[in-house]
Amino acid sequence: MVTKSKSALKKQLDLYKNEGNTIGLVPTMGALHQGHISLINHAYSYCDKVVVSIFVNPTQFNNIADLEKYPRDLSNDTQFLKEHNPETIVFCPEVNEIYTDKVESESFDFGNLVRHMEGEFRAGHFDGVGSVLKRLFEIVKPHKAFFGEKDFQQLMVVKRLVELTQQDIDIIGCPTSRNEFGLAQSSRNFRLNKAQLKQAELIYKALTTAKVMFLEHSIPHIISTVEHMFKEDSNFDLEYFSIVKEKDLIPTTQKQSKEKYRAFIAASVAEVRLIDNMALNY
Ligand code: PAF
Repeated sequence: MVTKSKSALKKQLDLYKNEGNTIGLVPTMGALHQGHISLINHAYSYCDKVVVSIFVNPTQFNNIADLEKYPRDLSNDTQFLKEHNPETIVFCPEVNEIYTDKVESESFDFGNLVRHMEGEFRAGHFDGVGSVLKRLFEIVKPHKAFFGEKDFQQLMVVKRLVELTQQDIDIIGCPTSRNEFGLAQSSRNFRLNKAQLKQAELIYKALTTAKVMFLEHSIPHIISTVEHMFKEDSNFDLEYFSIVKEKDLIPTTQKQSKEKYRAFIAASVAEVRLIDNMALNY
């Protein structure tokens, strides 16, 4: 089933739910790739029916050029799903089906989770993500929803969102899907040519360098090593590289025993902004 209509979707899902099926939701902004297929496969391993939403959410872009350049190709996406997961229910609403009143974000109290990294560099981004997901969750009412760890900060924010909005949905984080050179799968990779994709491998190299160094070196030393790697490469513009405590996503320069740490990075190659992250000590 492919539908733009939330009432048609709800009708179908009510039938499935009445028959006792569990529903999984994989929210996407389209330009589907193997990373999405991996999320969908995860969803099928937990749920009987899987809804994939395809909606380029205007309220989460703080930069209009980025929104306009975001790759969109619905017929390609539906074809891709037909080939990989033909059973999938595709919900691809127009903007006014989601934002019935005004196309603007609500504001949520995500606390420290949004003070740094994407929250700092993309003002309003997480309120936009929260606004669209709150609406999608209300429409689909899934039992579980699936998000990639590539957007780890988003994953933590979504867990907080369902607490704040008291929506009874299990939020499941799924491992980052990477290409053979380690580059995280992302719809933005479609905007890179072969040479630029090769250059983008530096992001993965930086994260693995940080992981290898983590046990024996101080955090400031690791950060300066990674910053140096990017200074040496003129193709890249490093926006941030941060090491944070995983539980609160606050950047730190000190290690404490029993804490989990994660490195986060945002960098642009050929004006395409890429993000990634990696667990450092587990
Ligand atoms: O990760 C994304 O693709 C988007 O942020 C999401 C979760 C689909 C919300 O628009």
